[in-house]
Amino acid sequence: MKTQLENIYNSALAEIEKAQTINDIDEIRLKYLSRKGEFNSIKKGLKDLSDDEKRTVGAFANQITEELESQLKTKHEKFYQAEMNEKLQKDRIDITLTGKSIPMGKVHPLTQTTNEIVTIFQNLGFSVVAPNLSPEVETEYYNFDMLNVPKDHPARDVQDTFYANIAGNVVLRSQTSGAQIHVMENQKPPIKVIAPGRVYRNENVNARKNNFFHQIEGLYVDKDITFGDLKGVLNEFIRLYFGSARPTRFRSSFFPFTEPSAEVDVQCIMCQGKGCRTCSGTGWLEVLGCGMVDVNVLKGVGIDPDVYSGFAFGMGVERLSMLKYAIDDIRLFFNNDKRFLDQF
Ligand code: DAH
Repeated sequence: MKTQLENIYNSALAEIEKAQTINDIDEIRLKYLSRKGEFNSIKKGLKDLSDDEKRTVGAFANQITEELESQLKTKHEKFYQAEMNEKLQKDRIDITLTGKSIPMGKVHPLTQTTNEIVTIFQNLGFSVVAPNLSPEVETEYYNFDMLNVPKDHPARDVQDTFYANIAGNVVLRSQTSGAQIHVMENQKPPIKVIAPGRVYRNENVNARKNNFFHQIEGLYVDKDITFGDLKGVLNEFIRLYFGSARPTRFRSSFFPFTEPSAEVDVQCIMCQGKGCRTCSGTGWLEVLGCGMVDVNVLKGVGIDPDVYSGFAFGMGVERLSMLKYAIDDIRLFFNNDKRFLDQF
């Protein structure tokens, strides 16, 4: 029996010697050392031996089983390490390589400028009108009639204003001023609002003009509002928007919905008033229109001009953005060139 065990032991050792993989080792263990393996079937014969033989053969059997176990374990460990090394080598990543950059979206410069202007006016106590009081598709009634714009005013001409085919008096608004009427129809003074939004004009597109652009309208109606309040608010706005105390001038002008009316110029930010191409040599840049709300406009919405007065203003967002960031072509805002947009 001992010889039998020895033979099995030797052939097991030979197989372990030849084994190449973890899988081979597992198979050898199964073949020799499992419950149904070769050693166990021989060990079953131990019970027929004398006590003496049992002791020596039994001890020998245990000894070689342990020996095989340990050999298998060593080999297993060796193969495991080798496989692991190979895997680590194959899956190796170079943590010093530079990463791929993921392009980030940005807030459009016009939205940035709008937000900036809106924030300044909010800090001066203005609130933004609800969108339903400032629609882009308007009737002539809100875009012109109620704003005291005469029926024969050239701005109403189809060459300037987009009329909708659906009905003769529907227009794409040519100005945000219509929001003034919606607000005053829906709210009693004191009213202190701004209305940012898109406007449309039937223009030939060039570096200075696009057939849609953006405006911010302002309206302040209360008791005892004076032209002094208007100047104070707009000077403060310009100081905050352009970032320093910059000379302004209020030039007498005309708008049908304000009386008196003015246009506000700011000293040219390119040449500091010396005269350059941007300001056409004048040293001044026109930035907005404004005035005291016309008595006819107040009466139209049922506000008593003997009790209340107000001022209004309107400015172009593109123009303000172009002046601040020295952008020389309005079309850059709209053709989505990443190289342009990435600069903001
Ligand atoms: N709506 C005028 C325009 O589009 C701008 C404007 C001027 C608005 C004077 C006003 C204002 O509210 O008082 O040119």
